[in-house]
Amino acid sequence: MAETSTGNKFYITTPIYYVNGRPHVGHSYTTIAADALARYHRLRGEEVFFVTGTDEHATKVVHAAQAQGLDTREFVDRMAASWQKTWERMHIAYDRFIRTTEAAHVAAVQRVVATLLASGDIYQDEYQGWYCVPCETYFRENELCEGTCPDCHRPVEQVAQPAFFFRTSAYSDRLLAYFEEHPEFIQPETRRREVIAFIEGGLRDACISRQHPGWGITMPEHPEHSVYVWFDALINYLTAVGYPDEQAPTWSWWPPDIQLMGKDILTRFHATIWPAMLMALGLPLPHRLFAHGYWVTDSGDKMSKSRGNVMDPWEVAKDLADLSGATTAVAVDAVRYFLLREVTFGLDGSFSMASLLGRFNADLANDLGNLLNRTLPLLERYREGIIPEPGPGAGGLREAIAQARERVAACLDHVDFRGALEAIWELLAAGNKFVDAREPWRLRREAKQVELDAVLYDLADCLRVVAILVGPFMPVVAEEIWERLGLAGVPPAWKDVEAGRLPAGVRVQVGRPLFPRVDLDRAWQRLEAKQEKTQKVAEDEPKEVAAVTVSYEEFQRLDLRAGKVLEVEKAPGSDKLYRLQIDLGEETPRQVVAGLAENFAPEDIQGKTVVVVANLEPATIRGIRSYGMILAVGEDKPLALVVADQEVPAGSKVR
Ligand code: MSP
Repeated sequence: MAETSTGNKFYITTPIYYVNGRPHVGHSYTTIAADALARYHRLRGEEVFFVTGTDEHATKVVHAAQAQGLDTREFVDRMAASWQKTWERMHIAYDRFIRTTEAAHVAAVQRVVATLLASGDIYQDEYQGWYCVPCETYFRENELCEGTCPDCHRPVEQVAQPAFFFRTSAYSDRLLAYFEEHPEFIQPETRRREVIAFIEGGLRDACISRQHPGWGITMPEHPEHSVYVWFDALINYLTAVGYPDEQAPTWSWWPPDIQLMGKDILTRFHATIWPAMLMALGLPLPHRLFAHGYWVTDSGDKMSKSRGNVMDPWEVAKDLADLSGATTAVAVDAVRYFLLREVTFGLDGSFSMASLLGRFNADLANDLGNLLNRTLPLLERYREGIIPEPGPGAGGLREAIAQARERVAACLDHVDFRGALEAIWELLAAGNKFVDAREPWRLRREAKQVELDAVLYDLADCLRVVAILVGPFMPVVAEEIWERLGLAGVPPAWKDVEAGRLPAGVRVQVGRPLFPRVDLDRAWQRLEAKQEKTQKVAEDEPKEVAAVTVSYEEFQRLDLRAGKVLEVEKAPGSDKLYRLQIDLGEETPRQVVAGLAENFAPEDIQGKTVVVVANLEPATIRGIRSYGMILAVGEDKPLALVVADQEVPAGSKVR
């Protein structure tokens, strides 16, 4: 497997994010991973260019602006600022934040399209088939999933309209040959095989224009068309380094050394259309594409804006800070650590507060916190905080440092964050074992001063190396340890990941524990109380409804279904709520929790065919999962149920 860096420069990208919503843990994963890799390469002394940004021309962005009653331009400006704020809070140090509404990007996209129109790689034809409005994607009949969009499962429209196509199919052989010659191009290997199978299955030309909706980049020479948002978005990686001005100093970054993305946007987009576009433009391809897995919630659903089950990484960090007493900046680093440590990059992972708190206590409060909290106070007590002269270094810590250095480098060169962190934690384990084995308190009692100096030196030196190694993952924590070791002002460098480079004579500071242990019982009580409060607000407060209209497409996003109520029972511990089992024509009945108990007896509901919002985000209400909502008439309290006045099959669509 090839290494991530190709020489002394390192150009790394994340996907650019849709601004129809705020960043969630899934998005922050790609960005934190890219940031960690960028920081590692900077530490290695390479010139790094790290690009992230926002994808602003999607129709769903227009809809989100409308829903807030805002002008689209004003909305995207606000959202881009909010994404930047989140990245700043999550300690992301990008070099360029690109927005697809920037003039430079619009010009770059129009140049690409004009070039490919001239070369015949883009041609005009008619599109006939099915179209998913929210996903802005065309599908063939056989790609639909029971007549709905295979990606979001919403209704699709039949369309026949003039459109422009990119000749992707003409590049199949060249793409396959390229993958063969560059086995490192697509990673992990399982994804590479998927991409190859996809291309071998037959490529069709990509429809890269839409009838101009008034928002989006206008096709050169064809103002009635706009450029398809994905075609527009992929070009950001070129714009970010100055394309089409190949004389621009930033152009020397091209091509990217690595592009990170989630597995959902690898096959069709980054591993097919994107390299084919670059081939058509005669430009070198990125050295490597790496697709990571999904974060799912603890109930197993993919975290996504459209499912509404997302967690904001900053909110998670604030909760963690609150529960542990750590500073918010340290808690942010702990979230970064958790995401990169918990699962192997490339595989799916399940995100829960329970596993975050578990790792916080075990890895940070115990392993790292312990070594810090033992070493620094011992130095303070026995040596007035002054780092003593090193001894001969017996006891294996020096070897452990050398091993950690090799393993971290090998893992990060192959984008294995988890492996790198495991290697650092082995070094921490060696450090903690060293304290237990050498018993500095005994050496002190027995007045073995030289030996005690040697032990204290090696421990502080080990912490110094740990601080350098964890820096890419936890930059604030690393800086804090560095300062406590009296090294403020000395820039950490990879060459210093070597035993014995801590200068004797510097003064350490003990400071407050960085990672106070979380009392798990108390934490759960507080989290549950917080959740109940949020639910109570949601249940009790009548919502202010903004006086905005919804488009037909927006209305269509609601999946309303007729459902036969099979069972009704009181939700335990609540006077207001019923737990219902409803037949929606699916394999198993749907469980829905509804606030009907004060106004309806179970027999008023049982057996009725009610209307259910079937694609409402699942929620936990009083500890019970609810997978939909029943429509009822009434503002403050339900007065009447909305029911079908004829027998209809369970699961029939309501429109
Ligand atoms: N705008 C496009 C990308 C264009 S790049 C030229 C897009 N945006 S997105 O906001 O929907 O998603 C961006 C990234 O976030 C993708 O890499 C996606 O895989 C990642 N994630 C979104 N939800 C995720 C999880 N639940 N888990 C992990 N990553 C996920 O697609």
